[in-house]
Amino acid sequence: MPGRFPAAWLDELYARADIVQIVSAYVPLKKNGSRYWGLCPFHHEKTPSFSVNAEQNLYYCFGCKAGGNVVQFVQEMERLTYPEAVEHIARQMHIPVPAMQEDPDYERRRTQRERLLAANRAAAKWYHAQLWLPENQRLLDYLHNRGLDDGTIRKFGLGAAPDAWDALTTELENQGYSQEELRLAGLTVVKPDSRFDMFRNRAIFPIIDAQGQVLGFGGRAMGDIQPKYLNTSDTPVFNKRKGVYAANLLKKQRNLNRIILVEGYMDVVALIQHGVNGVVATLGTALTNEQARLLKRYAPEIWVSYDGDSAGQHAIVRALDIFEQEDIKARVLFFPDNLDPDEFIRQRGLDAFQKLRPLRAAEYLLQRAKEGLDLSDDEGRMEYARRSAEILRKVKEPIELDHYLKNLTVDTGISREVLVQQMGITMPEAQQPQRAVLRPLRRNQGEKTHSMEEKTLISILASGLAPENAIRAEDFDTPLIRQLAEKLLSGMSPASILSECENDQDRQEISDLFALDIQINAENAASMAEQCLNTVRVHRLQKQIDEISANLNNLDNENKQDELKQLMALTTELNRIKRLVH
Ligand code: UTP
Ligand code: MN
Repeated sequence: MPGRFPAAWLDELYARADIVQIVSAYVPLKKNGSRYWGLCPFHHEKTPSFSVNAEQNLYYCFGCKAGGNVVQFVQEMERLTYPEAVEHIARQMHIPVPAMQEDPDYERRRTQRERLLAANRAAAKWYHAQLWLPENQRLLDYLHNRGLDDGTIRKFGLGAAPDAWDALTTELENQGYSQEELRLAGLTVVKPDSRFDMFRNRAIFPIIDAQGQVLGFGGRAMGDIQPKYLNTSDTPVFNKRKGVYAANLLKKQRNLNRIILVEGYMDVVALIQHGVNGVVATLGTALTNEQARLLKRYAPEIWVSYDGDSAGQHAIVRALDIFEQEDIKARVLFFPDNLDPDEFIRQRGLDAFQKLRPLRAAEYLLQRAKEGLDLSDDEGRMEYARRSAEILRKVKEPIELDHYLKNLTVDTGISREVLVQQMGITMPEAQQPQRAVLRPLRRNQGEKTHSMEEKTLISILASGLAPENAIRAEDFDTPLIRQLAEKLLSGMSPASILSECENDQDRQEISDLFALDIQINAENAASMAEQCLNTVRVHRLQKQIDEISANLNNLDNENKQDELKQLMALTTELNRIKRLVH
């Protein structure tokens, strides 16, 4: 977020901020090797995988992959915005904060954001106040009839949108908000010759983020009006794919051992009222990777608790897939008799809830794999074994895997060896010890995997231990990594590169890359760089050779001679480098 503080001042802050000291205020650290280690504050663990790289001013958790620079650490811990965290650190270090820089564009966006958030907050307050007025008694009765008490209604800031065309719009206009601001916030619908409230005659659920900002609203219709729930569509301050409902309460509940993810606003509110904590819902959409990563910060496990209908079952499989991609342990919690969580907790109470046993992700998927198959029949058993092998491929823990395999041999009559064969377990890279240590970090499905050599080279650059002029930007093929190389080569520090990241995903990806430098030291950096560069060159030469060879038969004689010469030269070069590698 450039434009707020002068660049030179920021550079100095980054240079002077001692990340070890700052992190130590939250997490006890111990030095081991080139890094400091402690228990990760962003996920739950018993042995330290959270590390601080004092030289680079970076932190990185090898368990949950949280990573960033010193400012980002303070941002996460204190839940501050970037400028707030910068000021927080400056104050701690007694560095005077300079006057703001003029950046009209940034200022305009910032002010607009603040105006819309203020309008939302004013709307939430007003909706809540409406709930207690006699003319809106029906709406309060509705919430009471759904089992909510006044404490819960206050805790969630629930409200009432009256049965009127423009009551909220008029009120907020009187408070000084423009029609355009109200339209942008999604509170008012503006038509060529009229304007009216977005939410009318609905019970209101304000959507509040971890910082306590009101981002938008969900409104429950009375009776059978469609849609049953109306949600704020995306606005400059609200993106339904990024947040979850009740994120504000999550923040207050430290040390959760699991989060329960449900479908509906009412499910969250009802479960929490009955004493279940750590419950959130997505906002009327399917779970996204961003939401999964957000939840990962609060608990080591997520229990998915969607409806038992076929749409719900489908959504569970998708959610499990996303958790798998994000390396998050997930379970599935079913409520019996097709009850949704809200109905279950009201009818059966907290004790019954606590007796429910969630299924492990693979356990759930295996159960589903059986559906529609006749296990008394050869074909059925074989198909079940095939589907199961597919599922078990993703189970990482040997003990859990063993447990399933045992059951499967009984259910299918197929031997363990064959099942394992079917899973296609080979041991890739195991023969190459040096590279096995620097094994690529897991990428999201479908994402391009950078070659291990490129990753290693970039981490050598980031470590500052690369021999001068040995590595050049041209050595990289992957655009993101090449850009990083250009920045590092131009003298930018890893910490300031991270501070430029526009979104969490880039930041995590880059943190992952920088963290690989744990394997690199002054003794091995040069030889590792050389080895990787040679491998990169071998790949490139081989690719060129393949392309020329493939094209050779399409050429006339003259051109063919030229290409053959070229081919010879490339092959000679290839063999020369190959001799160096081996
Ligand atoms: P459900 O239809 O399962 O409703 O929608 P529910 O939560 O059980 O609602 P109640 O108990 O009848 O009040 C689950 C979630 O899907 C989204 C909402 O977020 C809702 O909480 N949804 C549903 C919508 O966004 N729009 C709709 O029209 C319906
Ligand atoms: Mn319901």
